[in-house]
Parts: sequence; structure tokens; C-alpha cells
Amino acid sequence: MESTKEMSVKDQVKAIAGQWRDREGNLIMILHQIQGKFGYVPREVALLLSRELDVPLATIYEVITFYNYFKLEKPGKYNIAVCMGTACYLKGASQILDAVKDLLNIDEGETTPDGMFRLDAVRCLGCCGLAPVIMINDRIYGKVKKEQVMEILAAYKKNKE
Ligand code: FES
Repeated sequence: MESTKEMSVKDQVKAIAGQWRDREGNLIMILHQIQGKFGYVPREVALLLSRELDVPLATIYEVITFYNYFKLEKPGKYNIAVCMGTACYLKGASQILDAVKDLLNIDEGETTPDGMFRLDAVRCLGCCGLAPVIMINDRIYGKVKKEQVMEILAAYKKNKE
């Protein structure tokens, strides 16, 4: 945390850009490093990068939006993905999604004000036999019932520092 503060965001962006400036595919590698450092690609950083590399901002956003991997919004400490793929949908995923929304008081694509939880509705997570499925960070919860959502989230809420 301290070492990140020692260097300004501008210096960090310069350092990363400098490392990759003349290499092929540099923009993607730079964005990977940016996301690794900040957890997403903040707009401020995209602007700095555009100036530093002399690449139009639109080009940077084209790359970011083309690859699902890149995020434009700050992730939560816990990222909840509710699967809305066909198998999960047929097994009541909408009710699970509604339960999460109600309990956290956020909508899809939003993060709670304390930064603890982010909620996304996603396509098939690849474990349809466990439908309906939710994933919190890299942990999968299968055959979830809407009554269990509160209990699942409570375990994460306890970890609030
Ligand atoms: S549809 Fe949800 S895991 Fe496949």
C-alpha cells in the first residue's frame, strides 16, 4: 500500500508504458499490467496512457471493451456473479439475482458504497449440473436456493474490516 502511494499514478503509468513502449502488442500488455495494479482500468489512467503513448483514447477503449477481461469499474472486495445462463435461468436464477439485489441494495453492474460487494449477472459459468449457480470471487456455490443467499452473504460480511 505504501509503495503504491510513493509513486504517483502518473509515474506508475509512465513506468509501465515505458517498459512496453516499443514492443509488439504493447497496448494489451500495458492494460494487463494496469489492471493488475489497480484492479481495473480507471478513466484517469486511460487518459494518461493515451497521452503517454500518443494513442487516441478511443483506441484504448476499443481494446478494453473488446476483451471481456478488462474492467472499467472498480471491482468490489467480493465480486458476485449470478449465472443467468439457460440452465440456471430455468432453475430460478432470477429469484437468486433479486435476492442478492435486495440484500445488498444494489443493481447489476453496481458495487456497494463500502466497496465490499459488486454484483454482475453473467452467462453460463460452465457448471450447469449445479444450476442455479453463483460465484463469489473464485468460489462456486451450486444448487442455490433463494433462502440461502442471506446466509452465504453473511459469511462475507463478517470479513468486513
Ligand atoms: S447455465 Fe449456469 S452454469 Fe451453465
